[in-house]
Amino acid sequence: MGLRAKIIGTGMHVPDRVVTNDDLAKLMDTTDEWIQKRTGIRERHYIEEGQQPADLAYEASKNALRAADLDAGQLDCIILATLSPQADFPGTSFFLQELLDVPETPCFDLRAQCSGFVYALAVANGFIQSGMYQRVLVVGCEVHSTGIDLTDTGRDVAVLFGDGAGAVVLEANADENDPAGLIEVRLHAEGKNAKKLWVEAPGSGFTPVRITHELIEQRRHFPYMEGRLVFKHAVTRMPEVLLETLGAASLKLEDVDLFLFHQANLRINEYVMGQLEIPAEKTLSNIHKFGNCSAASIPMLLDEAVSTGLLSRGQVVSMTSFGSGFSWASAVFRW
Ligand code: COA
Repeated sequence: MGLRAKIIGTGMHVPDRVVTNDDLAKLMDTTDEWIQKRTGIRERHYIEEGQQPADLAYEASKNALRAADLDAGQLDCIILATLSPQADFPGTSFFLQELLDVPETPCFDLRAQCSGFVYALAVANGFIQSGMYQRVLVVGCEVHSTGIDLTDTGRDVAVLFGDGAGAVVLEANADENDPAGLIEVRLHAEGKNAKKLWVEAPGSGFTPVRITHELIEQRRHFPYMEGRLVFKHAVTRMPEVLLETLGAASLKLEDVDLFLFHQANLRINEYVMGQLEIPAEKTLSNIHKFGNCSAASIPMLLDEAVSTGLLSRGQVVSMTSFGSGFSWASAVFRW
């Protein structure tokens, strides 16, 4: 069976502050009804003054390490997927590494937006299968709340996003009697749609400086999204890559015990499940509680599946994402 990357621990963390749809309706022209009907979101969590992205990543990582019964010192590498880094550089992973008190463990950020976690899983899998590393911490971490336009102008995007972090510990598994581990992962991207869902500024292509008062006045430091186009691509690409990945693993839809979809919009996932005729009981959602946490959504969902006992060892899990880039990806593993 060879060397497989097995998930030996999961964890998540969200900040305490809950922001409901009604709270947002006090800041912009929106309603709880509009948001719930279009997206399924009821509330999300935002950081408070003084909290940093790495703090969320740290709590999620500690939980994953505890579940894996490991010390941070036993990690060979840390990969953190994010589109909302703590600083322009270095990556959030470096601040996390300091909090974990593992001063020389290699770490880096990976940028593939809402597909970041599945991309990071693929990279970690490569490290493990090549024999380069034994144990890799993979984290998805986002703080969206400080980067969205909480006025009428930004309402289409602002209501969707929340803050949170999810983490998994992967370990090389060579045990012939233990089939747990990643089976297949498939990644895709389409840069021609890069500007259909993006934040333009600060950007190193703006001369002579990356951010100006003018750019801010033009609100170009806030996300821009062509919502309907994103929706259309998501409902096409997600089933496509999910089936491609299962096919590569010689698995059928019926072989999968649990489907985890990126939490961008409940309607997207319902549409995808309808197309593939996946029964509702074979999936799990957390978007109603947390909104879209981009790279953190899938690991947060996986942690919930594990901690609530929904998932038991030996079961097959499929995870699929779609996001800015555009980027889309799917992985299938045996828990
Ligand atoms: N509250 C109230 N009204 C809003 C609103 C809000 N938060 N945001 C937009 N509207 C209004 C629009 O201004 C528009 O008004 P108009 O008809 O007077 O012009 C109306 O609602 C419909 O807007 P539209 O953008 O066509 O809505 P939609 O049905 O496409 O739903 C999304 C909007 C964002 C929910 C939907 O397009 C979507 O989910 N897209 C994918 C988003 C996504 O997944 N992003 C992340 C990918 S990782």
